[in-house]
Amino acid sequence: MSFYPPKINEKFQRPQNVGKTKGANAVGTSASFVCGAFVRVYLRIELKTKKILDAKFNSNGCGFLIAAADVLTEKIVGERLVELHGLDKETLQANIERELEKFPAHRTHCLELCLEVLQAAFADFRAFQIEEFTGEKALICTCFGVSEETIENVIKENSLETIEEVTKICSAGGGCGSCQPLIQEILDIYQRES
Ligand code: FES
Repeated sequence: MSFYPPKINEKFQRPQNVGKTKGANAVGTSASFVCGAFVRVYLRIELKTKKILDAKFNSNGCGFLIAAADVLTEKIVGERLVELHGLDKETLQANIERELEKFPAHRTHCLELCLEVLQAAFADFRAFQIEEFTGEKALICTCFGVSEETIENVIKENSLETIEEVTKICSAGGGCGSCQPLIQEILDIYQRES
């Protein structure tokens, strides 16, 4: 008889996504002070669409952590960053538990580690985008690699008035949110000039 509940044990014994993603452009690592386990996630993100093309992980953790990381990496493939950035702990937890089963209270830190590692990988992707950026005007949204020029153009071409409208068209502002004041400034300038 297994130490783990049946579905967790099944994933733990046969995880599908262990390893390193070839051509990864975002890597995140997170460790738990509770049990000493770590998990590292490798993502390959398409630069144009910001869609996750591949996701793999490594971990020295327990069956709960391995199972959660395996489900997480399986679920995020095919998703666009704009759909995942706002993901909160409860939603992530519910998504993983729906696939497996409810985690006992003393194992919820395994789920938290998965959320942290995803955020760490997104932060790494932001750094990657800054390094790769070659445009002449400033890079305003590092989450999605959107330049000042692109934001100005979408505002002008579509007569946009709010940050939400800008996000809808070019994703800028839809991640960590730190660029939203800059987007608002560009909107204000456009409104003053028009
Ligand atoms: S920099 Fe994070 S949403 Fe724009």
